[in-house]
Amino acid sequence: MARAAVLCVSLLLYLAFASGADAAKKKVGFYELKNKKGDFSIKITNWGAALVSVIVPDSKGNLGDVVLGYDTVAEYVNGSSYFGALVGRVANRVAKGRFVLDGKAYHLYINDGKNALHGGHRGFSKVIWTVKEYVPSGDSPYITLYYHSFDGEQGFPGDLDVYVTYELSNPYDLRIRMNATALNKATPVNLVNHAYWNLGGHASGDVLGHLIQVFASRYTPVDNVMIPTGEIAGVAGTPYDLRQLTPLGSRINLVSGGGAVGYDINYEVQGDGFRPVAYVRDPKSGRAFKLWADQPGVQLYTNNWMKDEKGKAGAVYQKHDALCLETQGFPDAVNHPNFPSVIVRPGGVYKHDMLLFKFSH
Ligand SMILES: *[C@@H]1O[C@H](CO)[C@@H](O)[C@H](O)[C@H]1NC(C)=O
Ligand SMILES: *[C@@H]1O[C@H](CO)[C@@H](O)[C@H](O)[C@H]1NC(C)=O
Repeated sequence: MARAAVLCVSLLLYLAFASGADAAKKKVGFYELKNKKGDFSIKITNWGAALVSVIVPDSKGNLGDVVLGYDTVAEYVNGSSYFGALVGRVANRVAKGRFVLDGKAYHLYINDGKNALHGGHRGFSKVIWTVKEYVPSGDSPYITLYYHSFDGEQGFPGDLDVYVTYELSNPYDLRIRMNATALNKATPVNLVNHAYWNLGGHASGDVLGHLIQVFASRYTPVDNVMIPTGEIAGVAGTPYDLRQLTPLGSRINLVSGGGAVGYDINYEVQGDGFRPVAYVRDPKSGRAFKLWADQPGVQLYTNNWMKDEKGKAGAVYQKHDALCLETQGFPDAVNHPNFPSVIVRPGGVYKHDMLLFKFSH
């Protein structure tokens, strides 16, 4: 009896302790990573595994924060712009929130007209992630966040274990690595990082003067509600042709998506494996980066709808104040057999590596 009672008490103590430790790891807050020199740092929140800030020098050595975002977790909880967030289970749109997989029809949460967008009402960008590892300083500071997505969450099939690691390395490289393991059912997976970049600084106004190059000769045209038609069209002779370094503003008025002026389009990135996706340079600040990734596509979005959005340190963001380069599987791939598959089978692993190479001048 006594022995059983002792066992019982120690088990209770253990459970209380374990859940206390878990609670600490799940506490929602901001986590900073900083290089040794002190001139390159980022902040992450485990609300939505979002990239909150990226601070890098300009050509004169002045530090600036080059992503849009908020000052408080409460604003991330309330926000609807996906600032810096890790978007999933399936980023971008799924037509009518419906797809058929292995003969079974699935219905996702509808949150964008008649379509599903960015994983639904409570996608991965609207949940608390667990901090698994956190090394804030040193040669390559990093943080790893984990989320368990349950079978049926927002309509998606099967349990899924998801990890994302943000890591800094010398001199000014930011690496983002994601993986997801399907535990018991086949499921679509398409994770993106939704950072809004402004290399002049998050509060410096529009990015129309940024120079951009996208290493893609084809893109996926969309209908009036932003669903791909299924065609994979050549960019040659269209305003989507960004194969040469081009001022972002030079043709922005010739393109629109869903009724707003600006780029909101998926490109088929040239080549295979881990390869350059895009290059962006801000001539004013001298800041630049080359984006590498191993995904089939990239969504170029020029923040076409934003109006008077209150952001960090009193900044008020407007449309075209930033650009997003979301490396990804193609939008609505679940409904287009000619697009690269985004299906992960039980025991299978989805992987996605991104590198923002050499924030430099
Ligand atoms: C929540 O979001 C709405 C709509 O974007 C905004 O008007 C409101 O000010 C926000 N509230 C807080 C507390 O941030
Ligand atoms: C996913 O990433 C985590 C964190 O880096 C790692 O521990 C794990 O082994 C990875 N899983 C797979 C299947 O690669």
